[in-house]
Amino acid sequence: MKKTLLIVFILAIASYSSYAVLNKTASASNNDSAIGLPGDDPADAKFPKGAKIYKEKCVACHQLSGMGIPNAFPPLKGSDYLKADKHRAVTQVLNGNTTPLTVNGATYAIPMPPQVDNHEDAVAVINYVLNAWGNDYGTVKLEDVKDIKIVR
Ligand code: HEC
Repeated sequence: MKKTLLIVFILAIASYSSYAVLNKTASASNNDSAIGLPGDDPADAKFPKGAKIYKEKCVACHQLSGMGIPNAFPPLKGSDYLKADKHRAVTQVLNGNTTPLTVNGATYAIPMPPQVDNHEDAVAVINYVLNAWGNDYGTVKLEDVKDIKIVR
C-alpha cells in the first residue's frame, strides 16, 4: 500500500513537471538563454548522446534546468554529491538508488529507479550532466566503470 502511494506520488510529480517544462518551452521560444533551454548549452554539442538520453530519461525529475524539484528530486547543476564521485554517479543511473542521500545540504529520500541498461549509455549521460548547466566536473571513462555490476 505504501509503495503504491509512493509510485502515484512520483508519477504525479513527474507528469506535473513535464507539463511545466512543455509550458516553459512553448512560452519562451525566442528567449531560450534566459531560462537555460538545453539547446543553448555547450555540453549539448560536446556530449550529444548524453544530452539525448538526459532529455529522454532524466528531465521529468531533474528538469531541463538541472535544478530538480525542491524536497523531491535533487539538483544535478552545482551538485556537490555529483562532483564528489563520478563512479558513484554511473552506478546511480545503472542501478538506481534506494538509500537517502544529501545534496548541497538537503536530504532526498524518494528512490531513483534504474535509468539505463548498459555502461556506454551510463557514461554518456553522466559525462553530459558533469558538464551541463555550467558544471565543470570533468569526465569519466568507460574503462573506469567496467567493474560496476548491473543489479536488477
Ligand atoms: C523518477 C525520478 C527520477 C528520474 C527519472 C531520474 N532521477 Fe536521478 N534522482 C532521483 C532522486 C529521487 C534522487 C535522490 C534520491 C535517491 O537517489 O534515492 C536522484 C539522484 C540522482 C543523482 C545523485 C544526486 C545528485 O543530485 O547529484 C544523480 C547523479 C542522478 N540522480 C542522475 C540522474 C540521471 C543522469 C538520470 C537520467 C538518466 C536520472 N537521474 C533520472 C530521481 C530521478
